[in-house]
Amino acid sequence: MAHLNQEEIIAEVKRNNEIVSVISEYVTLKERGRSHLGLCPFHQEKTPSFTVSRDKQLYHCFGCGAGGDVISFIMQLENLTFPQALRFLAERANLDVSLSALETPGMKKAKQEQEWVFRLHHLAAAYYRKVLSDPAMGRKARAYLEARGIKPQTVEEFFLGYAPPSWTALVELLRKKGISLDRAEKAGLVIGGAEGFYNRFRDRLIFPIMTPQGKTAAFGARIMGEGQPKYLNSPDTPVFHKGKYLYGLYQAREAIRAAGKAVIVEGYLDVIQAHQAGIEYVVASLGTALTRDQIKTLKRYTQQVVIAYDADSAGQAATVRGLDLLRQEGVDVRVAKLPAGDDPDTLIKREGKEAFVQTIAEAKDLFSFKLEYLLQHAEISTAEGKAKAVKKVLPLLARVDSVVAREAYIKTLAQEIGVSEEAIYIEWRRFWDNLRKNKQRLDIRQAARYTKPEFTQTNNSFRLTQNSGVLSNTKGETTNFQLEREVLRGCLQENNNLERINEALSGIKWSNQQYEALFDNLLHIAEVGGDWPPTESKINPELRFLFAELMAENELSPLPVDLEGCFRQIKRNQLIREIQQIQKEIAVTAEEKEGKPLSSGELQEKLLLLNELHKQLRQEFSSFSGLI
Ligand code: UTP
Ligand code: MN
Repeated sequence: MAHLNQEEIIAEVKRNNEIVSVISEYVTLKERGRSHLGLCPFHQEKTPSFTVSRDKQLYHCFGCGAGGDVISFIMQLENLTFPQALRFLAERANLDVSLSALETPGMKKAKQEQEWVFRLHHLAAAYYRKVLSDPAMGRKARAYLEARGIKPQTVEEFFLGYAPPSWTALVELLRKKGISLDRAEKAGLVIGGAEGFYNRFRDRLIFPIMTPQGKTAAFGARIMGEGQPKYLNSPDTPVFHKGKYLYGLYQAREAIRAAGKAVIVEGYLDVIQAHQAGIEYVVASLGTALTRDQIKTLKRYTQQVVIAYDADSAGQAATVRGLDLLRQEGVDVRVAKLPAGDDPDTLIKREGKEAFVQTIAEAKDLFSFKLEYLLQHAEISTAEGKAKAVKKVLPLLARVDSVVAREAYIKTLAQEIGVSEEAIYIEWRRFWDNLRKNKQRLDIRQAARYTKPEFTQTNNSFRLTQNSGVLSNTKGETTNFQLEREVLRGCLQENNNLERINEALSGIKWSNQQYEALFDNLLHIAEVGGDWPPTESKINPELRFLFAELMAENELSPLPVDLEGCFRQIKRNQLIREIQQIQKEIAVTAEEKEGKPLSSGELQEKLLLLNELHKQLRQEFSSFSGLI
């Protein structure tokens, strides 16, 4: 089948995997009229509402809304990606499928572009290394490295380099090699100006940022002396954006596996210094709060993470934000406390390896760290202050699963604040009862398994991977519960976010009434003017609990919400929802069940709309790498 293109392969696989016979291997089907009926494998049910049509080669469940063709059935049921499912079915039918034929032209092009960026970075990195080791050109940079205590062997291990002061040295090199400078600009290495191209990095130490497999994806470049910015980083390119990679992971991978944990630090030199000292399970998030991308990658190597950021307040705020993400992803998180004014680099240099190892060993669990952080920022000398502090800690306690641990935490809290344990227990119960009532009202009982959405491509459609992302409610619709919550948090952070949010979400349905009501409420309050965020007394009474929860979350995650990211995902989910709705309508037609079937003209229209939506979704997606 090697000579077939993607569409032909899909057609061939489908032709050889008759849907009724495939599904019969998983579900007991009874013939009924022109279709087959059985118990849906995708949700719990006692009376069958799962239908399979031999004519249309489609399945559809009237209970949960699942539906699609034989490939999406296998994807959903076996939890496979599209190419995996295709291969699975090809093997079932004894066909031989080559994977590369499965990529769309768009995907192939994106991949080629990425390869180019990697290749150019490889070349540039080699050039910067050569300059660093050049006796004359690299002297200043080598002296700087030596002054910072970095040994030549470490310089090699991290492929460090030096970009000379010249405005055009790299440009000339690329030109000589016949490489398109437009391409080099896309890769972020050179910049096109009025007078032609010039080097992005000049007179700076070069730190290659690598993929976990060791391909160079971007550069960080440090000025050697005073000046702004201290570090100049690569711009967004087809293979890089801020927060995509963890610095040093390529060098740390094996040590992380061996140690069963990873330590995350802030900076390039923290990683390098730690490695040089023999602590090799260290990577850096590069100055920003940890992102989901970084956490997902790290999770392939370990479930245990220690955060060792600077002790200053910015470091703490960044820590708190990253911690929530880590916890959401199910990682066991601890937080190390560096001496004030130190980063791992300075600590190791001043007090040696052992001091850092000990700091890591003494890292606190999440609750203790957050408790300390809260208490540091609370006024607990007065009775009122104590009450306030306890109120803020309650949402934290709600996240502690173990009753034993909770009891221990309440004990600590009582001691720290100087009130009785009983008083805290009473507050805790009140809080918990409220929380439960509220949760029922919000109908999020099915929402417990929130994870980031992941999508897979089917023959001509995108589907949510099973168990991923947006929540499915009982009707099988996708909702944006967690994302909307983030958006509301953003509302409370900045008054001027409201307009942006209002605009960005126009035409998008909120997934639950309470959220929508709170947003309207906030819009009204903002119109009147006054302090922001508003006081609880200005909020509608029935929304106050939600409001208080969000305020507490902001207190604990003071970094700005990534609104743009939320908007993007909400819009994407909306598209997916529309696609699911249309798929459902088409399937209804296929079954000629319930109500009047669509006419063939209407059906045609729906199919066109479906294609259009798919196209939009795919465009949204092509800006993200790693589709399959
Ligand atoms: P720091 O300012 O703490 O720098 O920023 P550092 O890592 O201690 O660097 P040295 O020791 O002064 O050389 C922490 C990290 O934040 C990112 C970098 O990744 C840096 O390592 N950062 C900082 C930037 O990207 N740009 C900047 O201008 C500053
Ligand atoms: Mn430093």
